[in-house]
Amino acid sequence: MEKKDNKISNEVDKQEAKKRIAKLRKEIDHHRYLYHVLDKIEISDAALDSLKNELFKLEMANPEFITPDSPTQRVGGKPLDKFIKVVHSRPMMSLFDAFSPEDMKDWEERIKKLIPLIPFIKGETIPLRPPSKGGYGELDYYCELKLDGLAMTLKYKNGIFIEGATRGDGKVGEDVTQNLKTIESIPLRLREPEEGELKKIGLDVRQIKLVRTALEKGEIEVRGEAVMTRQVFNELNKKYKKEGKPQLANPRNGAAGSIRQLDPKLAAERKLSFYVYALATDFGLKNHEEEHKLAEVLGFKVLKENKYCRDLSEVYKFHDYWEKNREKMPFECDGVVIVVNNLGLWPVLGIVGKGPRYMMAYKFAALEATTKIREVVWQVGRTGILTPTAVLDPAPVGGVTITHATLHNMDEIKRLGIKVGDTVIIQRAGDVIPKVVKVLPNLRSGEEKEIKVPKKCPMCESEVTKVPGEVAYRCSGTNCYAVNLRRLAHWVSKNAVDIDGLGPKIIEQLVKEGLVRDVSDFYILTVGDLEPLERFAEKSADNLVKAINDRKKIDLPRFIYGLGIRHVGEESAILLSKKLSPPRRDGEVKSNKISDIVKKFKMLSLEELEKLEDVGPIVARSIYDWWHDKKNLELLEKLEKNGVEIVLNKTQGAKQILTGKTFVLTGTLNSLTRDEAKAKIRELGGDVSSSVSKNTDYVVAGAEPGSKYDKAIKLKVKVIGEDELLRFLTNQRI
Ligand code: IVH
Repeated sequence: MEKKDNKISNEVDKQEAKKRIAKLRKEIDHHRYLYHVLDKIEISDAALDSLKNELFKLEMANPEFITPDSPTQRVGGKPLDKFIKVVHSRPMMSLFDAFSPEDMKDWEERIKKLIPLIPFIKGETIPLRPPSKGGYGELDYYCELKLDGLAMTLKYKNGIFIEGATRGDGKVGEDVTQNLKTIESIPLRLREPEEGELKKIGLDVRQIKLVRTALEKGEIEVRGEAVMTRQVFNELNKKYKKEGKPQLANPRNGAAGSIRQLDPKLAAERKLSFYVYALATDFGLKNHEEEHKLAEVLGFKVLKENKYCRDLSEVYKFHDYWEKNREKMPFECDGVVIVVNNLGLWPVLGIVGKGPRYMMAYKFAALEATTKIREVVWQVGRTGILTPTAVLDPAPVGGVTITHATLHNMDEIKRLGIKVGDTVIIQRAGDVIPKVVKVLPNLRSGEEKEIKVPKKCPMCESEVTKVPGEVAYRCSGTNCYAVNLRRLAHWVSKNAVDIDGLGPKIIEQLVKEGLVRDVSDFYILTVGDLEPLERFAEKSADNLVKAINDRKKIDLPRFIYGLGIRHVGEESAILLSKKLSPPRRDGEVKSNKISDIVKKFKMLSLEELEKLEDVGPIVARSIYDWWHDKKNLELLEKLEKNGVEIVLNKTQGAKQILTGKTFVLTGTLNSLTRDEAKAKIRELGGDVSSSVSKNTDYVVAGAEPGSKYDKAIKLKVKVIGEDELLRFLTNQRI
């Protein structure tokens, strides 16, 4: 029977996958057509990649649905008809992509295998080709920023610019010479460098002669990227807005539009820049770095940021630096290009499929991605204004996982046409909270739900009213913001769940940014959510997420205390815990689901509660009401869903007999690990410190104690053995 059920549910999954695949293909194709054929952009490359990635994964999992016309099976594009076609002297290829150091390592391994006689152990064999720049026959690299613009090839005859063409399909491009002539960084006549200048950049007599001859009576071809700076892009968009013209989607699109303008005057207005990244003419140079130097002395702009790297570890540094600092560049970069520096190795490594083996594009993490909106939560600010935040299916953006995006206000929701359940494009730029930039309505299933402003405040249930004359809505309650902050702070406090690093300021920041509304929200925070916030460098974001996850298993008394039920202090929480789960046998530790505890609580009658030690009718009523409140039960459900568990162990319900006592541990313990010992001491209210001082009450000395033992003797602090510690812990007596 179970088997049959599985089969049915698999089939349902298959059908769902098939539908999603069909929708994704249609959507991707639509955007490809707009982009490649009509020069129009509706969504960014990163967002399109994200959709393609989802399609690719679905097809991998369901290979029976792969068809030859799927966008995943397509390579290259077609040139437009409006310009004269140019057949390239050498194909303009693409690059293979790497996304991680592992990908890079694999690539290096692969190419090392193809370089037969190059000695990686110095002096072992004679290299087939001349060495590059570093040591004798070493495999070294030249690293370049990968500019996000358009690839161009420029031909010079007798030193004069005669033809510039787009990449097209790689073999045939479009002649856009007139438009390229409007780009000031493209020389119309090449410089004629002095012999000394060429010598200085490392050229020998033969190479110098080849360059000079080509300048006088030959051809020189260079390849590079035409780009639009962010500044020009922003200025143009401002201007177009004023003139009521359509906006450019991004700088790359701006550059493409300019180059494909039939009227060069209009092209000129867009002020593009051009950077050379390779020579297509062979001057017998030794390495790729020299190509850049030669291009520069011939009058081209090359990127000063490019860097020679001895090995992959230097490559990683270059990549990681620019991934974090890409916004320092005036134009957009989407990765770095790693080039085998030794030109002698290029023919050995050769071409495979769409690109050369001797180059690799090591991409930066995309700043946009697609994901689904799980729900929209409303945050109440200090002034009572309600702000919507989208809770998302976790999505990788810019190298980190994102789970929330701001939605600003109801007008923004309407402008974007967002519904709960929608597939959306999210964007993360620099140091700001991610936002939703677009909805993809074609991917709707019909199950999506309208977003409505809540009638009652989600915090305090007071009425919500519209602020007259504004887009905002406000909670009419008096202090629900402050009450909520206190509730959150209580949950993480030392005697409750005890989460390190969640002080009141941080909590308030999380609330303000819409990341946390109730205590269950702490448990879905990711490093990516925290990093853009003030005060959160990468490391502290990491630490906080770890600290929260370390406290996902919570002792029942702490859990009950943390809920902040009126009149329930630590002692009553311990009493209630005992009532719900009698102490267990020695050493037995059991995890329980929150829902089990809820069931147990719900079974307790008011009378039973009143019978508990120190619990009168008022306290009993408060406890009873709390556990029968719909909102509270929803919160508990969310806590369970977000991975919080309750731990019942033998000391649970124990009196805090070690309160006020500080312990220091030294040496190896036999029957429990140091962490276990620490946890148990803390459970009983004691503190554990890492260094001995006059304030230390006990130093616990295990086998081979260290200098802490000597210090204890010196300061006359009481030293106890493991046996004595265990007596404290098990007899619960001191
Ligand atoms: S070398 C075999 N170097 O990236 C291709 N390309 O994905 C030789 N690009 O079409 C290209 N910056 O438009 C190279 N420093 C750089 C680049 C670069 C951007 C673009 C270029 C190329 C595309 C390949």
